[in-house]
Amino acid sequence: MAISLPLNDFPELSLDASRLPQHVAIVMDGNGRWARRRGLARNEGHRRGKDSVRAVVEAARELGIPYLTLFAFSAENWERPSMEVDFLMRLFHRYLLTETKRLMKRGIRILALGDTERLPPRLRQVLAETVAATRFNSDMTVALALSYGGRQDVVTAMRKIAQRVASGELTPEQIDACVIGQSLTTGGLPDPDLLIRTSGELRVSNFFLYQLAYTELYFTDTLWPDFRERELLSALAAYQMRDRRYGNISPG
Ligand code: FPP
Repeated sequence: MAISLPLNDFPELSLDASRLPQHVAIVMDGNGRWARRRGLARNEGHRRGKDSVRAVVEAARELGIPYLTLFAFSAENWERPSMEVDFLMRLFHRYLLTETKRLMKRGIRILALGDTERLPPRLRQVLAETVAATRFNSDMTVALALSYGGRQDVVTAMRKIAQRVASGELTPEQIDACVIGQSLTTGGLPDPDLLIRTSGELRVSNFFLYQLAYTELYFTDTLWPDFRERELLSALAAYQMRDRRYGNISPG
């Protein structure tokens, strides 16, 4: 069944409503290059990137995609110059403060993934408030990966499991893919069906490692500040062309 999208400005990109991904994860890359190409400071790219976040969140919500994860700040991004890190922390802070009303109106729940203890106290506070304020919203979940590293996620999960084994709550034989998945910071979320990475880089860069086992990968040269509704629809159209076999064979 083809859907008449609320995003009717793009009639050439028709999608099948019954085959939309349940969970889209995005590595938002290319802010710095977007700015450099225009002779602007890197932070201008991040600022414009925030507008893409709003556009993509709201388009995904309109389409009825229930889960969207945005890789906003990696565990390795702490190594960037402190001026850029500080700017990003303030940008996340401002985003949460200014978007809560729009998120509430659209029934969007915010989750935080990653080592959020490392975030500045003011950001941690507003993040906790946004998570609490939106916790009963059930139309869509937006997970913000902040200070997130895929390997760190696996390490933390392994420690949790080891503690459960040490305390006698779990036997080694009871450890299975489900126990591991539930112990990750994404426990409770479905694995992503589609991973989008912008800016032409063909890497996973320590984002979800365990969770991407059967995820369809979509890479685009578009830089994140230019990634808006049309680009999301193109990615979804490409996803709908894929034949997901999960190691099996196609029927017929
Ligand atoms: C990668 O581009 C982007 C980041 C490290 C920051 C992502 C932040 C945003 C998109 C801003 C808004 C986010 C939210 C959640 C409100 P880069 O700086 O590595 O770009 P480059 O590879 O071109 O240098």
